[in-house]
Amino acid sequence: MLQQPEIGRTLTNDVIASGANARDERWREIYAKLVEHLHAFVRDVELTPNEWLEGIRFLTATGQKCDDVRQEFILLSDTLGVSMLVDALANRAASAGTASTVLGPFFTTDAEEIPFGGSISRPDDGIPMAVTGTVRAPDGTPITNAAIEVWEVDGAGQYDVQYADRVEPNGRGRVRTDAGGRFSFMANLPVSYSIPGDGPVGAMLASLGRHTMRPAHLHFSFTAPGFTPLTTALYVGDDPYIGGDAVFGVKPSLIGDYVRSGTGADATASLHYDFVLVPERTVARV
Ligand SMILES: [Fe+2]
Repeated sequence: MLQQPEIGRTLTNDVIASGANARDERWREIYAKLVEHLHAFVRDVELTPNEWLEGIRFLTATGQKCDDVRQEFILLSDTLGVSMLVDALANRAASAGTASTVLGPFFTTDAEEIPFGGSISRPDDGIPMAVTGTVRAPDGTPITNAAIEVWEVDGAGQYDVQYADRVEPNGRGRVRTDAGGRFSFMANLPVSYSIPGDGPVGAMLASLGRHTMRPAHLHFSFTAPGFTPLTTALYVGDDPYIGGDAVFGVKPSLIGDYVRSGTGADATASLHYDFVLVPERTVARV
Protein backbone atom coordinates (compact mmCIF):
# COMPACT_ATOMS: atom_id res chain seq x y z
CA MET A 1 0.00 0.00 0.00
CA LEU A 2 1.26 3.46 -0.85
CA GLN A 3 2.25 5.76 1.95
CA GLN A 4 -0.19 8.64 2.31
CA PRO A 5 2.25 11.26 0.94
CA GLU A 6 2.54 9.20 -2.24
CA ILE A 7 -1.18 8.86 -2.92
CA GLY A 8 -1.94 10.65 -6.17
CA ARG A 9 1.73 11.38 -6.88
CA THR A 10 1.34 10.48 -10.54
CA LEU A 11 -1.70 12.74 -10.75
CA THR A 12 0.23 15.59 -9.16
CA ASN A 13 3.11 15.11 -11.59
CA ASP A 14 0.70 15.04 -14.55
CA VAL A 15 -1.00 18.27 -13.47
CA ILE A 16 2.36 19.99 -12.99
CA ALA A 17 3.53 18.75 -16.39
CA SER A 18 0.37 20.17 -17.98
CA GLY A 19 1.81 23.64 -17.37
CA ALA A 20 4.89 23.01 -19.49
CA ASN A 21 3.72 25.44 -22.18
CA ALA A 22 2.88 28.27 -19.79
CA ARG A 23 3.30 31.72 -21.30
CA ASP A 24 6.50 32.41 -19.37
CA GLU A 25 8.89 30.81 -16.91
CA ARG A 26 7.61 32.66 -13.85
CA TRP A 27 4.00 31.61 -14.47
CA ARG A 28 5.15 28.02 -15.06
CA GLU A 29 6.96 28.08 -11.69
CA ILE A 30 4.00 29.58 -9.83
CA TYR A 31 1.58 27.08 -11.37
CA ALA A 32 3.82 24.10 -10.59
CA LYS A 33 4.38 25.17 -6.97
CA LEU A 34 0.71 25.96 -6.47
CA VAL A 35 -0.25 22.46 -7.65
CA GLU A 36 2.51 20.84 -5.60
CA HIS A 37 1.55 22.62 -2.38
CA LEU A 38 -2.20 22.37 -2.94
CA HIS A 39 -2.01 18.64 -3.53
CA ALA A 40 0.28 18.24 -0.53
CA PHE A 41 -2.24 20.11 1.60
CA VAL A 42 -5.07 17.85 0.44
CA ARG A 43 -2.98 14.75 1.29
CA ASP A 44 -1.80 16.20 4.60
CA VAL A 45 -5.25 16.88 6.02
CA GLU A 46 -6.87 13.98 4.10
CA LEU A 47 -9.51 16.34 2.79
CA THR A 48 -12.90 14.64 2.51
CA PRO A 49 -15.34 15.23 -0.38
CA ASN A 50 -17.68 17.18 1.91
CA GLU A 51 -14.84 19.35 3.19
CA TRP A 52 -13.69 19.99 -0.37
CA LEU A 53 -17.24 21.04 -1.31
CA GLU A 54 -17.43 23.29 1.74
CA GLY A 55 -14.21 24.96 0.59
CA ILE A 56 -15.63 25.45 -2.90
CA ARG A 57 -18.76 27.01 -1.44
CA PHE A 58 -16.66 29.30 0.76
CA LEU A 59 -14.54 30.56 -2.15
CA THR A 60 -17.67 31.00 -4.28
CA ALA A 61 -19.31 33.06 -1.55
CA THR A 62 -16.12 35.11 -1.14
CA GLY A 63 -16.18 36.04 -4.81
CA GLN A 64 -19.90 36.73 -4.80
CA LYS A 65 -19.45 39.12 -1.86
CA CYS A 66 -17.10 41.33 -3.89
CA ASP A 67 -18.27 44.41 -5.75
CA ASP A 68 -16.87 47.85 -6.66
CA VAL A 69 -16.40 48.85 -3.02
CA ARG A 70 -16.28 45.50 -1.18
CA GLN A 71 -13.18 43.33 -1.58
CA GLU A 72 -13.75 40.13 0.33
CA PHE A 73 -10.73 38.38 -1.21
CA ILE A 74 -8.34 41.05 0.11
CA LEU A 75 -10.01 40.58 3.48
CA LEU A 76 -9.40 36.84 3.20
CA SER A 77 -5.76 37.41 2.25
CA ASP A 78 -5.36 39.88 5.12
CA THR A 79 -6.92 37.65 7.78
CA LEU A 80 -4.83 34.67 6.68
CA GLY A 81 -1.65 36.72 6.97
CA VAL A 82 -0.89 36.34 3.26
CA SER A 83 -0.92 40.08 2.62
CA MET A 84 1.66 40.71 5.33
CA LEU A 85 3.78 37.77 4.14
CA VAL A 86 3.86 39.12 0.59
CA ASP A 87 4.74 42.52 2.06
CA ALA A 88 7.55 41.02 4.13
CA LEU A 89 9.04 39.27 1.10
CA ALA A 90 8.85 42.40 -1.03
CA ASN A 91 10.58 44.44 1.67
CA ARG A 92 12.99 41.87 3.10
CA ALA A 93 16.08 43.99 2.62
CA ALA A 94 16.86 46.20 5.58
CA SER A 95 15.45 49.46 4.39
CA ALA A 96 16.29 53.00 5.30
CA GLY A 97 12.69 53.86 4.51
CA THR A 98 9.51 53.87 6.57
CA ALA A 99 8.10 50.36 7.04
CA SER A 100 5.17 49.23 4.92
CA THR A 101 1.98 47.44 5.88
CA VAL A 102 -1.27 46.17 4.40
CA LEU A 103 -3.29 48.18 1.91
CA GLY A 104 -6.45 46.64 3.33
CA PRO A 105 -9.78 46.31 1.52
CA PHE A 106 -10.96 49.93 1.85
CA PHE A 107 -8.70 51.87 -0.50
CA THR A 108 -10.59 53.53 -3.36
CA THR A 109 -9.36 55.43 -6.40
CA ASP A 110 -11.87 58.27 -6.22
CA ALA A 111 -10.36 60.29 -3.36
CA GLU A 112 -10.31 64.03 -4.02
CA GLU A 113 -7.28 66.33 -3.97
CA ILE A 114 -7.15 68.11 -0.62
CA PRO A 115 -5.34 71.49 -0.45
CA PHE A 116 -2.52 71.99 2.06
CA GLY A 117 -4.17 72.28 5.48
CA GLY A 118 -7.56 71.11 4.19
CA SER A 119 -9.70 68.37 5.70
CA ILE A 120 -10.40 64.83 4.56
CA SER A 121 -13.25 64.50 7.07
CA ARG A 122 -16.58 66.14 7.72
CA PRO A 123 -16.85 68.17 10.95
CA ASP A 124 -19.07 65.58 12.66
CA ASP A 125 -16.92 62.58 11.80
CA GLY A 126 -15.21 62.36 15.18
CA ILE A 127 -12.54 64.10 17.25
CA PRO A 128 -10.77 66.62 14.97
CA MET A 129 -7.13 65.77 14.40
CA ALA A 130 -4.38 67.86 12.83
CA VAL A 131 -1.96 65.67 10.87
CA THR A 132 1.44 67.04 9.94
CA GLY A 133 4.76 65.60 8.89
CA THR A 134 7.44 65.45 6.28
CA VAL A 135 8.41 63.15 3.46
CA ARG A 136 12.13 62.83 2.90
CA ALA A 137 14.77 60.74 1.19
CA PRO A 138 17.05 58.65 3.46
CA ASP A 139 19.67 61.42 3.35
CA GLY A 140 17.12 63.91 4.68
CA THR A 141 16.43 65.66 1.39
CA PRO A 142 12.78 66.84 1.35
CA ILE A 143 10.64 65.24 -1.34
CA THR A 144 8.58 67.91 -3.05
CA ASN A 145 5.12 67.28 -4.48
CA ALA A 146 4.87 63.69 -3.24
CA ALA A 147 1.29 62.47 -3.58
CA ILE A 148 -0.11 60.96 -0.40
CA GLU A 149 -3.38 59.04 -0.35
CA VAL A 150 -4.83 58.99 3.15
CA TRP A 151 -7.93 57.17 4.33
CA GLU A 152 -9.53 56.20 7.61
CA VAL A 153 -12.74 55.32 9.43
CA ASP A 154 -15.04 57.92 10.94
CA GLY A 155 -15.67 58.15 14.68
CA ALA A 156 -18.24 55.36 14.38
CA GLY A 157 -15.58 52.98 13.06
CA GLN A 158 -16.94 52.92 9.49
CA TYR A 159 -15.26 53.67 6.16
CA ASP A 160 -17.29 55.79 3.77
CA VAL A 161 -17.74 52.82 1.43
CA GLN A 162 -19.58 50.97 4.19
CA TYR A 163 -22.47 53.42 4.03
CA ALA A 164 -25.10 52.42 1.51
CA ASP A 165 -25.95 56.08 0.83
CA ARG A 166 -22.35 57.10 0.00
CA VAL A 167 -22.44 59.67 -2.79
CA GLU A 168 -18.88 60.99 -2.58
CA PRO A 169 -15.59 60.18 -0.86
CA ASN A 170 -15.29 61.02 2.83
CA GLY A 171 -12.54 60.23 5.30
CA ARG A 172 -10.11 59.99 2.41
CA GLY A 173 -8.17 62.35 0.21
CA ARG A 174 -4.99 63.01 -1.72
CA VAL A 175 -2.59 65.52 -0.21
CA ARG A 176 0.78 66.70 -1.47
CA THR A 177 4.02 67.81 0.06
CA ASP A 178 5.21 71.38 -0.33
CA ALA A 179 8.66 72.60 -1.32
CA GLY A 180 9.98 71.62 2.11
CA GLY A 181 8.60 68.09 1.89
CA ARG A 182 5.92 69.01 4.43
CA PHE A 183 2.28 67.95 4.44
CA SER A 184 -0.60 69.12 6.58
CA PHE A 185 -4.25 68.16 6.68
CA MET A 186 -7.15 67.76 9.07
CA ALA A 187 -8.72 64.38 9.78
CA ASN A 188 -10.46 62.73 12.71
CA LEU A 189 -8.86 60.68 15.44
CA PRO A 190 -9.14 57.10 14.17
CA VAL A 191 -10.88 54.50 16.30
CA SER A 192 -10.55 50.74 16.40
CA TYR A 193 -13.05 49.05 14.14
CA SER A 194 -14.37 45.70 13.07
CA ILE A 195 -13.51 44.44 9.63
CA PRO A 196 -16.73 43.44 7.85
CA GLY A 197 -18.13 40.42 9.65
CA ASP A 198 -21.22 39.87 7.51
CA GLY A 199 -19.51 37.85 4.78
CA PRO A 200 -17.77 34.50 4.45
CA VAL A 201 -14.54 35.84 5.95
CA GLY A 202 -16.43 36.98 9.05
CA ALA A 203 -18.02 33.53 9.28
CA MET A 204 -14.57 31.96 8.98
CA LEU A 205 -13.21 34.10 11.81
CA ALA A 206 -16.23 33.27 14.01
CA SER A 207 -15.74 29.57 13.34
CA LEU A 208 -12.15 29.94 14.52
CA GLY A 209 -13.06 31.86 17.66
CA ARG A 210 -11.21 34.88 16.28
CA HIS A 211 -12.31 38.48 16.72
CA THR A 212 -12.70 40.90 13.81
CA MET A 213 -11.13 44.02 15.33
CA ARG A 214 -8.32 46.19 14.02
CA PRO A 215 -6.50 48.69 16.23
CA ALA A 216 -7.12 52.35 15.30
CA HIS A 217 -4.95 53.56 12.42
CA LEU A 218 -4.65 56.07 9.61
CA HIS A 219 -3.69 54.72 6.17
CA PHE A 220 -1.04 56.41 3.97
CA SER A 221 0.07 55.55 0.46
CA PHE A 222 2.93 57.54 -1.11
CA THR A 223 4.02 58.04 -4.69
CA ALA A 224 6.81 60.32 -5.85
CA PRO A 225 8.85 60.23 -9.06
CA GLY A 226 12.14 58.40 -8.53
CA PHE A 227 11.06 56.80 -5.26
CA THR A 228 9.62 53.41 -4.43
CA PRO A 229 5.89 53.68 -3.69
CA LEU A 230 5.05 53.06 -0.05
CA THR A 231 1.79 51.83 1.45
CA THR A 232 1.67 52.01 5.20
CA ALA A 233 -0.38 53.10 8.22
CA LEU A 234 0.17 54.69 11.61
CA TYR A 235 -1.36 52.89 14.58
CA VAL A 236 -2.60 54.19 17.93
CA GLY A 237 -0.23 52.67 20.47
CA ASP A 238 -2.61 52.44 23.43
CA ASP A 239 -5.43 50.88 21.45
CA PRO A 240 -6.81 47.74 23.16
CA TYR A 241 -6.32 45.73 19.94
CA ILE A 242 -2.76 46.86 19.24
CA GLY A 243 -1.47 43.40 20.20
CA GLY A 244 -4.16 41.42 18.36
CA ASP A 245 -4.81 42.97 14.97
CA ALA A 246 -7.22 40.78 12.96
CA VAL A 247 -5.06 41.28 9.85
CA PHE A 248 -1.60 41.21 11.53
CA GLY A 249 -0.64 44.63 10.12
CA VAL A 250 0.99 46.29 13.14
CA LYS A 251 4.74 46.93 13.18
CA PRO A 252 6.43 48.65 16.15
CA SER A 253 7.91 51.43 14.00
CA LEU A 254 4.42 52.31 12.77
CA ILE A 255 3.08 53.32 16.18
CA GLY A 256 2.19 56.97 15.68
CA ASP A 257 2.57 59.76 18.20
CA TYR A 258 -1.15 60.50 18.54
CA VAL A 259 -1.62 63.32 21.05
CA ARG A 260 -5.06 63.93 22.59
CA SER A 261 -6.12 67.10 24.36
CA GLY A 262 -9.36 68.42 25.81
CA THR A 263 -12.47 66.42 26.59
CA GLY A 264 -16.02 66.11 25.35
CA ALA A 265 -16.93 68.63 22.70
CA ASP A 266 -13.54 70.31 23.15
CA ALA A 267 -11.53 67.17 22.44
CA THR A 268 -8.91 67.46 19.74
CA ALA A 269 -5.93 65.44 18.64
CA SER A 270 -2.77 65.78 16.65
CA LEU A 271 -0.35 63.50 14.89
CA HIS A 272 3.09 64.22 13.49
CA TYR A 273 5.24 61.72 11.63
CA ASP A 274 8.27 62.02 9.39
CA PHE A 275 8.20 59.48 6.55
CA VAL A 276 11.18 58.29 4.54
CA LEU A 277 10.89 57.00 0.97
CA VAL A 278 13.74 55.08 -0.62
CA PRO A 279 14.96 55.81 -4.15
CA GLU A 280 13.74 53.19 -6.63
CA ARG A 281 17.19 51.89 -7.45
CA THR A 282 18.03 50.93 -3.85
CA VAL A 283 15.13 48.51 -3.39
CA ALA A 284 16.21 44.89 -3.50
CA ARG A 285 14.80 42.94 -6.42
CA VAL A 286 13.35 39.65 -5.26
FE1 LIG B 1 -8.05 50.39 7.90
